[in-house]
Amino acid sequence: MAARKVIFDTDPGQDDAVALLAALGSPDEIEVLGISVVAGNVPLHHTVNNALRLVELAGRPDIPVFAGADRPFTRRLETAEHVHGSTGLDGPDLPAASAEARSGHSVDFIIDIVRSSPEGTISILALGPLTNVALALLKAPDIATRLEAIVLMGGAYFEVGNITPTAEFNIYVDPEAAKIVFASGVPLTVLPLDVTHQMRATPERIEAFRAIGNRAGQAVHAMLSFSQGFDLAKYGWEGAPLHDPCVTAFLLRPDLFEGRHINVEIETASELTRGMTVADFWGVTDRAKNAFFVRSGDADGFYALLTERIARLP
Ligand code: RIB
Ligand code: CA
Repeated sequence: MAARKVIFDTDPGQDDAVALLAALGSPDEIEVLGISVVAGNVPLHHTVNNALRLVELAGRPDIPVFAGADRPFTRRLETAEHVHGSTGLDGPDLPAASAEARSGHSVDFIIDIVRSSPEGTISILALGPLTNVALALLKAPDIATRLEAIVLMGGAYFEVGNITPTAEFNIYVDPEAAKIVFASGVPLTVLPLDVTHQMRATPERIEAFRAIGNRAGQAVHAMLSFSQGFDLAKYGWEGAPLHDPCVTAFLLRPDLFEGRHINVEIETASELTRGMTVADFWGVTDRAKNAFFVRSGDADGFYALLTERIARLP
């Protein structure tokens, strides 16, 4: 079976990094055509630099990195240095990137790739605020019917919010962008906190990355060892939730996950519930079913998959 052709849209972020590295360790199944970078966990100059360092860590400096939006549509950018550190990729001591981001905006890269590829062959894997994805859909509405899918980490329903009592960070940062994406008609798969909170990075699971013995495994160990701090203190769980790699894992092993096709709407009017993903999980409305909402997953299978794919890297 041919590899899925994907564009990552991401705000690295240690969890974004693991998602990207696991994809790069799976070239027979996922072909990463490029990386579109957005501001989110940290400002854009850091997320771009992090993406450049990550493709080099994976031995794939050939993968183009493009800078995208440095702020949400209308809202002030809110970041998460308290989780990810000042650089957004605190933890490992990665060498400085030797390359620059490509010229041009990442939104134009997305549009050009989708328009120049056969219909239904390009998917976007969205790991951060949806500003770039929404901008691409606004600038080139025709890509909505050309995209194969958008698979995104974002939202929450039964698990409620992580940045406010009702909203998950990626959706909260740019709810107007999320509203556009969820109304686009593009086949959507949503990996919300409902499932990512089950994927807890226990000490044993983090140690398994270090035990691989390769450069990527060491880096992942250092990343997760750093980024777990805030959530361990917040939740008091045996491990911090690991969010974005659920997107990559869903592409590789959808059988590890369970969900249902439902309606999901985005709150943009209320400041109290800004960014809430209003999921009609029980079908109590006749709203159009616009998303496959993943509610649960096999955590042991998830970590075994990630460890096995990270082991394939340098
Ligand atoms: O709420 C978790 C999400 O916000 C993840 O994508 C993490 O990287 C941050 O962007
Ligand atoms: Ca992210």
